[in-house]
Amino acid sequence: MIQRAVAQAQANIALIKYWGKRKENNAPATPSIGLCLEALTTTTSVERTSARRDSVMLDGQAARGEALRRIVAYVDAWRTAGLLEGNFHIASSNDFPTAAGLASSSSGFAALATGLGAFSRRPLSASRLAHWARRGSGSAARSIFGGLAYLATGQGSPAGLLAAPRDVPLGMVVCVVDAPQKSVGSREGMERSRAASPYYSSWTAQGRLDYRELAELVLEHFKPGRARLPAAAFRRLGELVESNCLAMHACMLATRPPLLYWAPATLAVLRAAAQWRGEGLAVYGTVDAGPHVALVCQQRDLARTAQLARELPGVARIIPSCPGAAARIIEQA
Ligand code: PMV
Repeated sequence: MIQRAVAQAQANIALIKYWGKRKENNAPATPSIGLCLEALTTTTSVERTSARRDSVMLDGQAARGEALRRIVAYVDAWRTAGLLEGNFHIASSNDFPTAAGLASSSSGFAALATGLGAFSRRPLSASRLAHWARRGSGSAARSIFGGLAYLATGQGSPAGLLAAPRDVPLGMVVCVVDAPQKSVGSREGMERSRAASPYYSSWTAQGRLDYRELAELVLEHFKPGRARLPAAAFRRLGELVESNCLAMHACMLATRPPLLYWAPATLAVLRAAAQWRGEGLAVYGTVDAGPHVALVCQQRDLARTAQLARELPGVARIIPSCPGAAARIIEQA
């Protein structure tokens, strides 16, 4: 019987977002596509304990309150499903600032599901692990697969790989902007938009179209060994990514009361990207449910994009990244 497993997973940032859930099993209302980032890694150790309760450390601090409750309820769901027995000590840390909107729930729940999976009484396929990751956080199901991964809506496989990391010639520069902590988490925020945004149904209809178009573009243009996309294909990808993000934020903004996740620097980074495009650098921005901006570019433009982003006022830190790997166990005893 194993006593301890250490799992790693990488955060992913959606190129095509989901914002809205179905009722069952935390399934999203629309399909989405995310890029896993090697520079944003969560490492989670799961250890059996003889204590009467689970305990959780997050970035070196004992978890309390809502954070602890959410993780214990998650492990309870595994126990109730008959996959686990006994209690666990869980210690999780990120090698990036656990700032709001930095996709930490994607790597967090992918690493936790992978770590718990090592103790499972029945072997779990990647697809079953993705199902469990999704119960923690929708985007976590994409981090199970790494590279460019999709999150589906239906009863079948919840998520899967669209392109392996080595076949994705894209990079991202995450711009962490000066901003206070976000107030409304994604789970609650998307439920508010579903209930009270007049743009919700237009957003979900557009999201489905955007998903289909990007999935087709990936099938056509992402080829093993191809170091970069043709310029026109990358332009189309970038326009889709930016427009899809802005449509999601339009839905958020129209929610009553509004969900305004941006800080002044969010807009400044998006404007800068538009200006750089005008000067010949192909780069596009995307923003999750928070103020930070991820700039998407071809890998050969990553260093230049990072250099420009670093100089923008209001940008506290930049994290350039190539595509990341699938979630995995790195140690087991
Ligand atoms: O599933 P969550 O709670 O990580 O929410 C993800 C929400 C967005 O990041 C805004 C969109 C997405 O598809 O990742």
